[in-house]
Amino acid sequence: MTLWDDLRHHQALHADRPILALFEGADRAGRFSIRAGGLLFDYSKTSIDPHARDLLIRLAEASGVAGRREAMFAGAKINETEGRAVLHTALRNLDTDIDVDGENVMPEVRATHARMEAFAEAVRSGRIAGQGGRITDVVNIGIGGSDLGPAMACLALAPYADGPRTHFVSNVDGAHVHDVLAPLDPATTLVIVASKTFTTVETMTNAEAARAWMAKAVADPGAQFAAVSTAAEPTAAFGIAAERVFGFADWVGGRYSVWGPVGLSLMLAIGPEAFTAFLAGGAAMDRHFREAPLVENMPVMLALVGIWHNQICGHATRAVLPYEQRLSRLPAYLQQLEMESNGKRVAMDGTELPRHSGPVVWGEPGTNGQHAFYQLIHQGTRVIPCEFLLAREGHEPTLAHQHRLLAANCLAQAEALMRGRTLAEARALMSAAGFACPDLERQARHRVFPGNRPSTTLLYPKLTPFTFGQILALYEHRVFVEGVILGINSFDQWGVELGKELALALEPILAGREPTEGKDGSTRLLVDYLAG
Ligand code: F6P
Repeated sequence: MTLWDDLRHHQALHADRPILALFEGADRAGRFSIRAGGLLFDYSKTSIDPHARDLLIRLAEASGVAGRREAMFAGAKINETEGRAVLHTALRNLDTDIDVDGENVMPEVRATHARMEAFAEAVRSGRIAGQGGRITDVVNIGIGGSDLGPAMACLALAPYADGPRTHFVSNVDGAHVHDVLAPLDPATTLVIVASKTFTTVETMTNAEAARAWMAKAVADPGAQFAAVSTAAEPTAAFGIAAERVFGFADWVGGRYSVWGPVGLSLMLAIGPEAFTAFLAGGAAMDRHFREAPLVENMPVMLALVGIWHNQICGHATRAVLPYEQRLSRLPAYLQQLEMESNGKRVAMDGTELPRHSGPVVWGEPGTNGQHAFYQLIHQGTRVIPCEFLLAREGHEPTLAHQHRLLAANCLAQAEALMRGRTLAEARALMSAAGFACPDLERQARHRVFPGNRPSTTLLYPKLTPFTFGQILALYEHRVFVEGVILGINSFDQWGVELGKELALALEPILAGREPTEGKDGSTRLLVDYLAG
């Protein structure tokens, strides 16, 4: 029997045991929660009992999590299918030297970071200005990892923003670039073209549209562009001067890149000091991840809860539910982080995975979700593990009563999911409301909540830059640990390539320059319709 078998056997044995029953006796909440760096991660409202946790920890040990973790931090080429190191952590641990291929990569990282700071200061102070004066608006053009991180972060840290307004264009749908640029003044706008490869069709197409928009009103549009990329040549070909190009190495994965130059728009918005606090939060989580024993290790236990729910219990999705409006883009960000990283079908050695890989990740901020899809989470036939996030304190002291309401809702949802409502309780409610049989019985059945639905809760003091950095790094390491346990490469994304290739081939067909020959009947039907 393998540890996987042991886990499945143990889970099946206790499948009907109510989670609530686990709270009888010992201090369940204290023993199944972790406090670190001011955060509290509570996973006591899951069906993981002491034996399940022991098995999960043994699984993490047997999978070599600790060794892979150290290999990642040391700059080993753990992204084997691309032959690359995985060192986004270096971007937030600027004082630690790291060698890749025998060369210390940190002097260059530090130099670029210093250039970013100088540029951000100059733009924020007005020393670098547009044709029409001080830069009032920054437009980041990028997609995937070159968009989701900074877009989410600028929203999350809005209370700290004291620089130019930030905007994000990602979709190749011309509506996006049109609607974002329309209200802006090109003479006071700075455009950042963010693309690791500087070849992504969406980004390059939008960048050209933005340059044309700028050129109509600005004599030297290139002077109001900056670029963030690993590729120097195409940035020069696009007409962006070298001093406005902020490079990074190929060992920073797109979805892990917000800590470096891809975070330039965030740095412009909140300033270098707050950005440094964001990096410090990430670095603090790195230290915790490297130093805490597995059972007290927040990313490790968050990952093991994920493995328990997905691979052991068979729950195919997980909902991320931030009770924090400013984290409204977190689910979208995590969709890329988790699903692009762990949505794989083969193991590192190319053999088919013996079990499912990463779950479907989705979510919306509370309390909005409560009035939309929570119905299914409470009473639907599928179990959806929920991950709640909530701050102790908001940023609006005069609206503290609203924060209390928010918190009460968050805690209530987790409690309701676990506790449920029995038929007897529902009958009593209906009877108190004046219903009598047979109507009472029918009505009562609709008001039953099965309960026993798992959730975790992550509490944090306040969504400051530091805390936000901790939370992002927590999720990054969670994805890493799950990937190691599943035996996959979390750092490539070959699954996005086929669609890109076919889109390139379809564009000339849609333009009428090439025939639909060789395409399947459905694609031909759709092309014919679009041709009008
Ligand atoms: O297509 C997927 C992807 O490669 C992501 O991994 C990446 O974040 C995104 O496209 C954007 O890529 P780039 O930064 O090179 O434009």
